[in-house]
Amino acid sequence: MVSFVRRSGRMNASQQRAWAGQSDFVVRVPVRSSSTSIAPDADVDWTAEFGRTAPLLVEIGGGTGHAIVAHAEAHPDVDHVVFEVHEPSAASTLGRMARHGVSNVRLVVADGVEGLTVLIGPRSLTELWTFFPDPWHKARHHKRRLVTTAFADLVASRLRPSGVWRLATDWADYADAMREVLDVHPGFENAHAGWAPRWPGRPLTKFEAKGLAAGRQVFDLCYRRRG
Ligand SMILES: C[S@@+](CC[C@H](N)C(=O)[O-])C[C@H]1O[C@@H](n2cnc3c(N)ncnc32)[C@H](O)[C@@H]1O
Repeated sequence: MVSFVRRSGRMNASQQRAWAGQSDFVVRVPVRSSSTSIAPDADVDWTAEFGRTAPLLVEIGGGTGHAIVAHAEAHPDVDHVVFEVHEPSAASTLGRMARHGVSNVRLVVADGVEGLTVLIGPRSLTELWTFFPDPWHKARHHKRRLVTTAFADLVASRLRPSGVWRLATDWADYADAMREVLDVHPGFENAHAGWAPRWPGRPLTKFEAKGLAAGRQVFDLCYRRRG
C-alpha cells in the first residue's frame, strides 16, 4: 500500500525557473516501476551530498517548503532532506531556497516512506517532521494515512536516541489516531503531557490557514526517541 497519490500538475513559470536554476539541490535517485517509487538498492551518501558531516533532519511532505527553508536558514549547521511527491511544490521549495539564500536543503521527489526506508540509515536523524500529512478523512481511506504503527517503527529505527519527531494535523480524529499509535509505542516518549504546544519553528502554511478558516483546530505532537 502506498501512502500517497502522485499529484502531477503543471509548473508555473517561476516554478520552472526554480527547477532549472536550482537543480543542484534535487537528489535524483534510481526508481522502480513509477517515478516516485525508489529502487530498493538506491543509495545516497549524504555526507558527500552536503560536503560535510552535520546533524540530519528529514521532512516528509514538505509542501512548498515554508517550514524547512525557515529552519534551514535559522540553522545553517543542520542538513535538511525533504521528500515531496508533488513536483511543482518541490520546485516552489527550490525557489524559496534561492530567495532565502539557503543551500543546506536537498529535495527528493519521491515517496517519503520509501525514502526513509531506502535512503536514510538507521539511527541517523536528529529530527523528523510530518506536518499536515494528507488526512484521508473518509473512513474507507484511513488505511492510506501516513502515521501508523508500521511507520512509527520505521521512524523509530531512523532517529538517533533522543531524536525528535514533530507532527501536526488539523483533523481531530487523525490527531487522536496519532496519539493512540505513538503514546504506546515502545520506541517513543511523548515530550509533553499530551498535545504539544504549537512549535514556534513551524510557520503558518496555506494548509493550516485553510484548516483554521474552516473552523478546525490544529494539533501539534512531539515525541522523543527513547535511548
Ligand atoms: C496537506 S500537504 C501539507 C504540506 C506542508 N507540510 C504544510 O504543512 O504546508 C501534504 C503534502 O505531503 C505530500 N505528500 C503526501 N504523501 C507523501 C509521501 N508519501 N511522501 C512525500 N510527500 C507526500 C503532498 O504532496 C503534499 O505536498
